[in-house]
Amino acid sequence: MLNTEIIKTSDGSNTLYVRDLDEQYHSVHGAVTESEHVFIKNGWQALPNKPHVVVLEVGLGTGLNCLLTALKAFDEGREVTYHAVEKYPLSTQIISGIGYGKLFGERGLEIFERIHQANWNEMSAVFPGFNLMKIETDFLVWEGSEGIQYDLVYFDAFGPDKQPEMWTPEIFMKISGLTRQGGIIVTYAAKGEVRRRMSSAGFIMERLPGPPGKREMLRGIIK
Ligand SMILES: C[S@@+](CC[C@H](N)C(=O)[O-])C[C@H]1O[C@@H](n2cnc3c(N)ncnc32)[C@H](O)[C@@H]1O
Repeated sequence: MLNTEIIKTSDGSNTLYVRDLDEQYHSVHGAVTESEHVFIKNGWQALPNKPHVVVLEVGLGTGLNCLLTALKAFDEGREVTYHAVEKYPLSTQIISGIGYGKLFGERGLEIFERIHQANWNEMSAVFPGFNLMKIETDFLVWEGSEGIQYDLVYFDAFGPDKQPEMWTPEIFMKISGLTRQGGIIVTYAAKGEVRRRMSSAGFIMERLPGPPGKREMLRGIIK
């Protein structure tokens, strides 16, 4: 387990600070603002015509991206299969303290609780049509779920300076092999080295405007 403490970000939403890494789970310029921009606006909304989206999240963490995706899917009446890999599950104390469920009304609260009540390594229905599997493992050794190819990959590891082993050519080759044709990867990172590695792994890359506090972010597609 990582040693984390809850801190407030500029949009009023909380995030976690990891003392050992001197790193946050989200941008200090706004945790919810960043997740909505990087993963929802530039990820989820880039696949508007898919009635069933198969998502892989690298680093479930607080479950914020999962919550935002579930809220969107519910409103849009789309189905989701959501696989989220996590090496360091958070304590129930941290999850209740982070308070994301309360930001999105009754439905948000219910969905957030269901995400965190779901058993690890089992498929659970967060609500009918939104099936979640939280996979407790080290992404470095995980080889995918049998027969599953992803439409959308949320790559949300700690930063390349803090956790370089998660940003290697081998990791991006593994992810591209798990992504279906037309599938996309999004990340908050914008480094040239990351873009080149994703590109070498087969993603056609684009730089997009970043969330507050960041000039750019990256999106890749398998053509
Ligand atoms: C930047 S945080 C983002 C978390 C999450 N997406 C959120 O919104 O709260 C990075 C996440 O990756 C997880 N992580 C780090 N190394 C990992 C590994 N080797 N395998 C799986 N998860 C890992 C961390 O525990 C953390 O939850």
